[in-house]
Amino acid sequence: MASSGIIAFIFTVLCICAVKSGGFIKVECKAENVGQYGQQSVLECVIKTSTDVNDPTIRTVAWKKLTSPEDEGDLVLGFNRGKLDQPKRGYRFAEPLWNEKNMNVSLLITNTAVKDDGYYKCIVITDSGDNSMVTTLKVQARYSVPTVHSIPEIIVPNTDSTLICESRGGYPNGTLRWFDEEKHEWTKSSEMEATQSDDGLFQLTSRLSLLGGSTFPKYTCAVFNASGGKEDEKTFETNIPPSSSRGSEELPHSGSGYPSKVVAPLVVIGSLIVGLLLLLLYRKRSQTARRNSTAPLMGGHGPVSTDVEEGYNSPDDASINQDQS
Ligand SMILES: *[C@@H]1O[C@H](CO)[C@@H](O)[C@H](O)[C@H]1NC(C)=O
Ligand SMILES: *[C@@H]1O[C@H](CO)[C@@H](O)[C@H](O)[C@H]1NC(C)=O
Ligand SMILES: *[C@@H]1O[C@H](CO)[C@@H](O)[C@H](O)[C@H]1NC(C)=O
Repeated sequence: MASSGIIAFIFTVLCICAVKSGGFIKVECKAENVGQYGQQSVLECVIKTSTDVNDPTIRTVAWKKLTSPEDEGDLVLGFNRGKLDQPKRGYRFAEPLWNEKNMNVSLLITNTAVKDDGYYKCIVITDSGDNSMVTTLKVQARYSVPTVHSIPEIIVPNTDSTLICESRGGYPNGTLRWFDEEKHEWTKSSEMEATQSDDGLFQLTSRLSLLGGSTFPKYTCAVFNASGGKEDEKTFETNIPPSSSRGSEELPHSGSGYPSKVVAPLVVIGSLIVGLLLLLLYRKRSQTARRNSTAPLMGGHGPVSTDVEEGYNSPDDASINQDQS
């Protein structure tokens, strides 16, 4: 048993040596390449050789565009038996004077399009062995500065309106977000739509609903790219002056601090009214008391009952105040 184990071990070592002496090459690629839409992109791959490989010659290079990492793929650039085959427009070796002795087999895409985004496979055959590697290209396109307009064109105070923000020509899918001048976000009151044009670029449209009573003087629409970076923004002026009662109008939207911020002023106003009423009552009472003492014939109950009626009027006023605030 032990001897068969030793034989297997020796056999394995011999095999590894045989492969090594037969040459060893490795294609090494940058795992992720980034390309800008409409510009040149490079997919970087170089052939690394083991030390015992001397002056290797490349027989074949095949660059394929895959639809998934396991896919067979479509040939975009091929080199075979000393010449380029099936050269596809817009693809070439990144090295300007590339030949079969040049181990830098990087691919150059001359005019990057959205369809170039994805997986690529670089297959290499040399006289010292062969290897292949999959790499990716991430295509990016910058979104345009947003434009903002309103419906109606001129916003009427205390009337509902809509702001429409548009940004186009970006990739991948981005988002539009809304902010007021105090940087509070209003995106939840908006609806965004993303459409893709024939060239694959996205057009983003967002509609922000403004409630008549709570329209701010300024809104900013900002466009964020797929990785959440802000690319640009545009500020729109509604020409609605800042409202004096802004503080309480803002609250139903932001949601936080609603009870304390609304209830506190009501408690203050309420206690002031009660205090005033008590004061009035007290003064009328003392007047009546004085009158009663100086002119007892006038009768003490009449004025007191009108006091009570007046007393009922005032809480009504208070509840109107509550409705308005
Ligand atoms: C390969 O060639 C490309 C184009 O000339 C170059 O940008 C890149 O740096 C080269 N890579 C290496 C590892 O030399
Ligand atoms: C783009 O993103 C938005 C929100 O992030 C989403 O609603 C929309 O469906 C996406 N569109 C596409 C085509 O992926
Ligand atoms: C998003 O924007 C940030 C900052 O501008 C930038 O660094 C990043 O590369 C962009 N990402 C994409 C996918 O466009």
